[in-house]
Amino acid sequence: MRRLSAFFLLSLLLVIFNIAVLPATAQNRGVVNVYSTRHYGPTEAPFTAFTEATGIEVRVSQGSNQALLDRLRAEGNRTVADVFMTIDAGTLGIAADEGLLQPIVSDVLTANIPEAFRDADMRWVGLSARVRGIVYNPAVVDVGELSTYEALADEKWAGRLCMRPGSHIYTISLVSSLIYHLGEEQAEAVVAGWVANNPIYIDSDTRIIESVLAGQCDLGVVNHYYLARLINSDSQYPLKFFFPNQGEDERGAFFNLSGAGITSAALNYDNAVLFLEFLSSLEVQNPSDISFPTTNFEFPVNPEAEAHPILQGFGEFKLDETYPTTEYKDYQQAALDLLERVGYGMTE
Ligand SMILES: [Fe+2]
Repeated sequence: MRRLSAFFLLSLLLVIFNIAVLPATAQNRGVVNVYSTRHYGPTEAPFTAFTEATGIEVRVSQGSNQALLDRLRAEGNRTVADVFMTIDAGTLGIAADEGLLQPIVSDVLTANIPEAFRDADMRWVGLSARVRGIVYNPAVVDVGELSTYEALADEKWAGRLCMRPGSHIYTISLVSSLIYHLGEEQAEAVVAGWVANNPIYIDSDTRIIESVLAGQCDLGVVNHYYLARLINSDSQYPLKFFFPNQGEDERGAFFNLSGAGITSAALNYDNAVLFLEFLSSLEVQNPSDISFPTTNFEFPVNPEAEAHPILQGFGEFKLDETYPTTEYKDYQQAALDLLERVGYGMTE
């Protein structure tokens, strides 16, 4: 509560300061420019709530992970972006390594976000978590048949899988985790096993789920929130989500972060810090109409925040925290190379 009050007091002072003392630059200082690879609409509810709380306008440019990273690289010091927001910790790590992001000085962020979900040098922070797991139809698949990502290579799943193409970051990051844990050779055998099962490649997690429902495949590999959305609009939605690799000796389900960093060229650094602090605050991490994680049914990163009731309905599970999010960047290229090498479908 004390943290929230301090935040609003600071915001108020900032607004007053802009208007009263710096009218000539007010336009510039009243904005935070965001390059976002999130694809859930440009005006997300928490962004609007931030503007209402602070008077700082949030301007969003959307694009794919690769396109916006390339744009940041090309624009260099001339970029208008203050914040680079992505749906992949690896991409944030790559941007940080290339000097495109700067360390963020904020006790609020270090308090709100656990170390496992942010860069050690604070060049980026995670703001929500998403699990890549298995969607299945309980009418045709017994949950006892499901176990691990590796087991999808079993020939019993031949002709029964729907998967996202290998050009998509969701597939690349999942495969990067296999390389991290199993080594290149064993990871390659697993992915080759998936390929041998002749999956239907569909470049949309929502359409993968629809295909499972329609019986075109029995299992799909998807991010958890796409199913949560469908359950939200139909509480009797017949498909289920399975968190892989949950056995006692196993590493847990692979997850990625949606997170953000502040660009090295940011003209509105202070506004960018306030923006990220706002998104990490308990009030915006907890379920509500302005929640950052919840409005897309993602998991909060703030450990004091609760998950949306629909996600609680998915049951207890463990995340794979043995693959540090700070290392996702190191296995991304190897994952892409592996996918191409084994003939995994790169397009739909
Ligand atoms: Fe997504």
